[in-house]
Amino acid sequence: MKAPSTATPLQRTLWEQLEVSHLPAHVAIIMDGNGRWAKQRGLSRVKGHKAGVQAIRSALDTVLELGIGNITLFAFSTENWTRPPLEVSVLMTLLRQFMRIELPRLMDKGIRMRALGDVSRLPKAIQNGIARVETETEKNIRLHFNIALNYGGRNEILHATRSIMADGLNPDKLTETIFEQHLYTCEIPDPDLLIRTSGEFRISNFLLWQMAYTELYFTDVLWPDFDVEQMLRALLDFQGRVRRFGGVHGD
Ligand code: FPP
Repeated sequence: MKAPSTATPLQRTLWEQLEVSHLPAHVAIIMDGNGRWAKQRGLSRVKGHKAGVQAIRSALDTVLELGIGNITLFAFSTENWTRPPLEVSVLMTLLRQFMRIELPRLMDKGIRMRALGDVSRLPKAIQNGIARVETETEKNIRLHFNIALNYGGRNEILHATRSIMADGLNPDKLTETIFEQHLYTCEIPDPDLLIRTSGEFRISNFLLWQMAYTELYFTDVLWPDFDVEQMLRALLDFQGRVRRFGGVHGD
C-alpha cells in the first residue's frame, strides 16, 4: 500500500509491505496496560488512561487511512466496576469528556460510533452523551467504530438469549443467524483480528461468540505506546496467517 505523506521512513517501509486485498474488515482491540505505562513513568494511573485515550485517536486514524471498515475497542468491562471507586470515577469522567470532545472529529472523519454493552448501568450523563454521538454519527459510513462499555461476552450471550425467549421463538427454529441478530454486534461482521496489548494472553470475556475464527495477536507493547507502527506490525502479522475457518484449505 502507498504510505501517507506524513509517514516516517520506518512507517513507510511497513505501509509498503501491506497488501490492500488482505486487510481485515474488522479489527477488535483489548487496550491493556495504561496503569503499567503510567507506573513506569512515575505518573498516576489517571495519566495512563489519558494517554490511552490519545492512543484510541491514533488507532482510529490509522484504520481510517487504511480503509478498514470496522474497529471495536474494549473500553470498560462488566468486571471493571470492581476497580477502586476513584479509578472507576476517573474512567467515567474520561468517557464523558470523550463523547463531548470526539463528536466533531468523528463527524469530520465520517466515523459512526456505536456502544456495545449494557449502557443502562452507566451514569445518566454518559448515557446521554453516548446517545447523542450515536444519533449524530448514524449516517457516517467510512468507519464503524464500536466502543464496548459495561460489556461482557457472557452477559451479551445471556442478553441475546433472554431477548429470544421473550420473543417466544420455538427452540427448533433457532439458528446462528437469528441468535446473532440479538447480539449487540448485529449488523457488524465478526472480527478478523483481535489485538491485545501489554503481554497478557487472555480474551477476558470479550466478543466470545464473535471470535470463533478470529486471528489473535498479542504484543508486549502497552496500550498508550500502541502507535501507527505497532498497528502496521499487527496487520502485517495478520497478513501472514492462513485462515481455514475449520476447513482443510484456505488462504
Ligand atoms: C486498562 O489498562 C485499560 C482499560 C480500563 C480500558 C481502556 C481504557 C482507556 C483507553 C481509557 C479510557 C477510555 C475512554 C474511551 C475514555 P489497565 O488499567 O488495566 O492497565 P494495567 O493492567 O497496566 O494496570
